[in-house]
Amino acid sequence: MKKLFSSRVWILISTIIFVVIVDRIFTKKNEPKKIALPAIISGIWSAPDTNSIPHTKEGEMVLYGRALIANTAFYLGPKGKISHSTNGMNCQNCHLDAGTKPWGNNYSAVFSTYPKYRERLGAVETIEQRVNDCLERSLNGKALDSNSKEMKAILAYMKWLGQNVLKGQKPKGAGILQLVFLERAADTGKGKSVFGNKCAKCHQLTGQGQLNADGITFLYPPLWGAQSFTDGAGLHRLSRFAGYVKDNMPFGANYKAPQLTDEEAWDVAAYVNSQPRPHKTFSGDWPNISQKPFDQPFGPYADSFSAQQHKYGPFSPIQKAKQGMAKNKLF
Ligand code: HEC
Ligand code: HEC
Repeated sequence: MKKLFSSRVWILISTIIFVVIVDRIFTKKNEPKKIALPAIISGIWSAPDTNSIPHTKEGEMVLYGRALIANTAFYLGPKGKISHSTNGMNCQNCHLDAGTKPWGNNYSAVFSTYPKYRERLGAVETIEQRVNDCLERSLNGKALDSNSKEMKAILAYMKWLGQNVLKGQKPKGAGILQLVFLERAADTGKGKSVFGNKCAKCHQLTGQGQLNADGITFLYPPLWGAQSFTDGAGLHRLSRFAGYVKDNMPFGANYKAPQLTDEEAWDVAAYVNSQPRPHKTFSGDWPNISQKPFDQPFGPYADSFSAQQHKYGPFSPIQKAKQGMAKNKLF
């Protein structure tokens, strides 16, 4: 019988098989695959390219929505073009790069996860309601009508931003990072010196920030005082503030190159959130008090920890007690 292949071809075939096996063994299983889309598979979420916004009526709304996020004060601030209904901050002050920055409180998971049940409301919340939450609490302003052009534009922008995220998914890099707890209470005294060394240059020692030359918008937004976010805002919770500054402040920092230690982030959060700011009462918040987050600074609480400990920590004992309570309910 004739040989199927010459011995040279056999050597070639076995070499190829050998190389393929060795390559499989040495390739790490979890190595990210080099696929451009969808963004979730390739690791950290990134926003679609703004050049891809279509030149249509819908595209115009997306662009208007983006402008409202980036320059809210210009449209809705104390001297706004459309209304005078916010404190002069921009959404972008806290949702960096128009809500696209990884761990910069981005909007990647908004369209994919809303409407959703929220413990603060005790009911299912729509995107419109969530936007109004930030308008009323973070911008100390008035809610937008769901039928207004402005609300529709903000929604169009969030839908466009989240187009590469599957329904129900929360991509890596969404929102704000949860820092590891300190085993002590965060220290306002230590935080004051962090603030003086690393923040005051821009936000000023008074914490009041600095207006642009136009006198309308902020170059550096205020961190406390009459024009800052209210005590009902998310950043008034220590973990949200600490996570936000760790990956984003001083301005220019990012998750790859943070400029603060975790301790500095917690302590400066304590200092800033110990300063006076507008008070707003939202009496309907957390209708089920056992669902309050560990760092919600206002009672009543389902546990016996003080309001002081809920504001500044240490938080581990509170979390442990919370988990214990949840367990007792189950069994
Ligand atoms: C002072 C800071 C601040 C400002 C200004 C602000 N926000 Fe927020 N926003 C937050 C924080 C903090 C959260 C909650 C993040 C978390 O808990 O991870 C949030 C959450 C949100 C969410 C939900 C995100 C999600 O994935 O669940 C939306 C939507 C939102 N903001 C819209 C807006 C809009 C629109 C504006 C401007 C009108 C605005 N925000 C201004 C701080 C701010
Ligand atoms: C180099 C200037 C600079 C420094 C230093 C700096 N920031 Fe900021 N900060 C900014 C700017 C600019 C923004 C708004 C970002 C935007 O709109 O894109 C901002 C936004 C913020 C916000 C959200 C908006 C608000 O006003 O509440 C917080 C909180 C904040 N900074 C805290 C800090 C803390 C804490 C430090 C020190 C660890 C710090 N920043 C250092 C420039 C700075």
